[in-house]
Amino acid sequence: MLKNTLRVSKIKNGTVIDHINAGYALEVLKILGIKSKVKSIVSVTLNVSSKTMGLKDMVKIEGRELKTEEVNKIALLAPQATINIIRKYKVVDKQLVRLPKIIKEIIKCINPACISNSNEPIKATFYVDFQNALLLKCHYCGYLLEKEDIVKQFQ
Ligand code: CTP
Ligand code: ZN
Repeated sequence: MLKNTLRVSKIKNGTVIDHINAGYALEVLKILGIKSKVKSIVSVTLNVSSKTMGLKDMVKIEGRELKTEEVNKIALLAPQATINIIRKYKVVDKQLVRLPKIIKEIIKCINPACISNSNEPIKATFYVDFQNALLLKCHYCGYLLEKEDIVKQFQ
């Protein structure tokens, strides 16, 4: 088979999330809240070869332009992802994902004693720290979550 065969056709309008680290596309869908009842046409490609990454995953969402804030959350798991906005078959915008400074709701604190894990109506909130490795600091108890603690929550 030709190396650069296009496995999923080009889309007319929407968002292509490219350069997702291989193995993370399904987690990316979870972070974006894309579930079985989604209305858009969503194509997921796992383990395609990439010049720069070895293998990569890709997600194409038709008819929906994801907003920067929505998309930046995926930097937690796919820091090298590129977001392509497609209009009339053309890439009209290409952005690298960037970690937001604050992450709300999508991750739970792993400290069982944290108030965000009680029955209080509190939304888990973390400050993002990325000096050497990814760390999330809980706003409520100060607990530090490492990348593995984050990845586990999406498995
Ligand atoms: N794409 C698509 N539908 C379109 C246009 C592009 O599905 N109408 C997809 C391409 O298949 C590719 C991604 O969007 O996976 C980015 O397209 P493009 O910028 O043309 O590709 P590259 O130059 O290879 O991107 P990069 O430099 O970011 O690797
Ligand atoms: Zn906490």
